[in-house]
Amino acid sequence: MRIVATTKLPGPAWDELPGVELLEAWPPSEPLPGVDVLVAVVSRVGAAELELLPDLRLVANYGVGYDVVDVEACRARGVAVTNTPGVLDAAVADLTLALILTTRRHVATADRWIREGGWQNNWARPKLLGRDLAGARLGLVGFGRIGREVARRAEVFGMDVAFHTRGGGIGLDELLASSDVVSLHVPLTEETHGLISRERLGLMQDGATLINTARGAVVDEEALVDELVSGRISAGLDVFAEEPAVPEQLFGLPNVVLTPHIASATSETRAAMTRVLVDNVLAYSRGDSLPNQV
Ligand code: 8YV
Repeated sequence: MRIVATTKLPGPAWDELPGVELLEAWPPSEPLPGVDVLVAVVSRVGAAELELLPDLRLVANYGVGYDVVDVEACRARGVAVTNTPGVLDAAVADLTLALILTTRRHVATADRWIREGGWQNNWARPKLLGRDLAGARLGLVGFGRIGREVARRAEVFGMDVAFHTRGGGIGLDELLASSDVVSLHVPLTEETHGLISRERLGLMQDGATLINTARGAVVDEEALVDELVSGRISAGLDVFAEEPAVPEQLFGLPNVVLTPHIASATSETRAAMTRVLVDNVLAYSRGDSLPNQV
């Protein structure tokens, strides 16, 4: 079995994979015949990339979201795709709460203000008056494993939690219009691409906050930038439409907190993701059914 990876993954389980070759670049500059397994870390795998790996049988995606992998193109070539669900829900929910708190209590702005020498007397603390989490309504778009973990945490903070899913909860427009904080927890699919459109962003209340730890393209990013530049709403963003590009108009804004797609980035969680990925590759090597085939 020949395994290639776009990068080495953290945690002890990695060493159980036999002879992994690390690729210098993705996509590779020339075809790689004889490769059975690709360990893919935020790597686009579409028809063109599959051409370069003509003998591929498995794409093991490091992450629960696999929107970068063209599953149909893989299926057409008999290539299985696996992901790493279930082990990162708590870490993503933690960062979601961190972004809610940082945005609603101006933590990042306050930190910058001190570093810039702004705290010269106790009476001049501009724009640092935050909003309580207790009593505020949190509207969750998507209520799967991660959404539920966020709900559990938010309830401890006294937030009033509502949610919208395709099949349940309250209507999306009603959720957007009635929430103080809206947080996105849906996968990126054809159906959710641009779900939070310019029109829907316009439904959010003045002073409301949008949190995105899901995928940037779920939101009309240009429309979001316009709303943030106007100052009407605030946002905590861990994901962007064209990562690693972040719209530069956001850099000087006090009403947006930016993190570089780190919601699952804890040592424990990343090691657990590696464990799940490795278990899928080992199952493939034994000819067993794949625990997390998508
Ligand atoms: C990334 C994620 O996979 O799981 C997901 O869907 O977006 C992340 O956990 C991770 O950042 C890859 O390094």
